[in-house]
Amino acid sequence: MQNTQGLFISFEGIDGAGKSTHIEAVAQAFESQGRSVTRTREPGGTPLAEALRQLVLNDPMDALTESLLVFAARRDHIQGVIAPALAQGRVVLCDRFTDATFAYQGAGRGFDLGVLQTLEQWVQASGAEAQALLQPQLTIWFDLPPAVAAARLTGARVPDKFESQPLAFFEAVAGGYATRLAQDPERFARINADQSPEAVRDQVIGALRAKAFLPGAQSA
Ligand code: TYD
Repeated sequence: MQNTQGLFISFEGIDGAGKSTHIEAVAQAFESQGRSVTRTREPGGTPLAEALRQLVLNDPMDALTESLLVFAARRDHIQGVIAPALAQGRVVLCDRFTDATFAYQGAGRGFDLGVLQTLEQWVQASGAEAQALLQPQLTIWFDLPPAVAAARLTGARVPDKFESQPLAFFEAVAGGYATRLAQDPERFARINADQSPEAVRDQVIGALRAKAFLPGAQSA
């Protein structure tokens, strides 16, 4: 058990935005401060949620089924990994969280945002106070033009169900992220991901310093 407060940070962006590299750099920055870090991802993070991930990423299904499966995975992940890690004062770095559902199933697939909001309430309600939703304290959004992201993905590996979607799908997903940011600007740090890896990394570390999550100059 640590005395420090738990910290929950999520990382978002369309496929090909390059978030994975930077999550590792963030983990190392926290570890060099003596913090214990839990690296995890969605859909996934527990054996049940990883099994659901395989279905969601590979099997054709309608948008409601997809939404129910990602929220079921999220419920198990919160209970099995995220909440216990935060209670122990750990830093939880989560590769995607609920903003991805609003962006991919909501904006991308055009699924009912009201239903997603209801599922968000059910799945992320924490403790006795039904109003208190578990949300990341910071969401780092790697914003990149979909055409640039598509070029980065080309030939990288066999695309999964989402990665093989047309450009218009990712335009819609990017719009979904922009809407989520507009609804909760304090929680988001928008990163211009159309830059060199070093410049993107500097923006990410700057965002963590601006929130005083890491020591250093308070500039975003
Ligand atoms: P991603 O995070 O890009 O992992 P990898 O780098 O291993 O491909 O892949 C997860 C995919 O799942 C991504 O295409 C977005 C999608 N997704 C949803 O559609 N809804 C969700 O709620 C989440 C968390 C992810």
